[in-house]
Amino acid sequence: MKKKLVFATNNAHKLQEVSAILGDEVQLLSLNDVGCTDDIPETADTLEGNALMKARYIHERYHCDCFADDTGLEVEALNGAPGVYSARYAGVAHDSEGNMKKLLAELQGKENRKARFRTVIALILDNKEYLFEGIVDGEIIKEKRGGSGFGYDPVFIPEGETETFAELGEEKKNQISHRARAVSKLSKFLNFTQ
Ligand code: IMP
Repeated sequence: MKKKLVFATNNAHKLQEVSAILGDEVQLLSLNDVGCTDDIPETADTLEGNALMKARYIHERYHCDCFADDTGLEVEALNGAPGVYSARYAGVAHDSEGNMKKLLAELQGKENRKARFRTVIALILDNKEYLFEGIVDGEIIKEKRGGSGFGYDPVFIPEGETETFAELGEEKKNQISHRARAVSKLSKFLNFTQ
C-alpha cells in the first residue's frame, strides 16, 4: 500500500512540483484533503522553526505522517535578510513587487550581491522529526528580468546561469531549485525508510 503523507500546504503549484519529485510511492495529501482550513501559525524566527511549527500543528491535530516547508532568500550583504521574513519583507505578506523594490533599494551601492534561496522541510514520520535542507546559491541583479515564476525570481540568477529564475522558466527552475533539492533529499529518505 502507498504511504500517505500530508503536505502542510494548499498551494496547488507546490503540491504538483513536490508530487512529481516524490513519485508514485507516496500518496500526497493537501491540507484540504484532511479538512484543515486553519491559518497555521508561522511565527518562529528561523526557517527550521517555522517548518517544524507547521508540521507539529498538523501532526498534533490529525495524528498523521506529514511534512511542511519554509523558504527564505538570504542575502550576504544584508546579514541573511530577508530570510525567514521573505514573504513580508516590504510589510504586506506576498507583495512580491514591494519586496523586490525594497531588496534592490537595500542593495543599492553594495558590491556584494551574493544570495541564496534556502528551503527547509520538516518531516514527522512515525512520531519522529527530521529536517531536510535545499540551497541554491546565486546573486541579486540590479533590475528585474523575466516573467515566469514568483516571489524574488526576476532578480535572482542562480550560480552557473546567465538568466534569472524568471527567465529560465518553470521546468528548468524545478530541476535546480532550493525546493527541488530539499524535496529530493526527502524523497531519498522516504525510499530508504520504506
Ligand atoms: P514559502 O515558505 O515557500 O511560502 O516562501 C516564503 C517567501 O519566500 C515567498 O513568499 C517568496 O517571497 C519567497 N520565495 C520562496 N520560494 C521562492 C522561489 O522559488 N522563488 C522566489 N521567491 C521565493
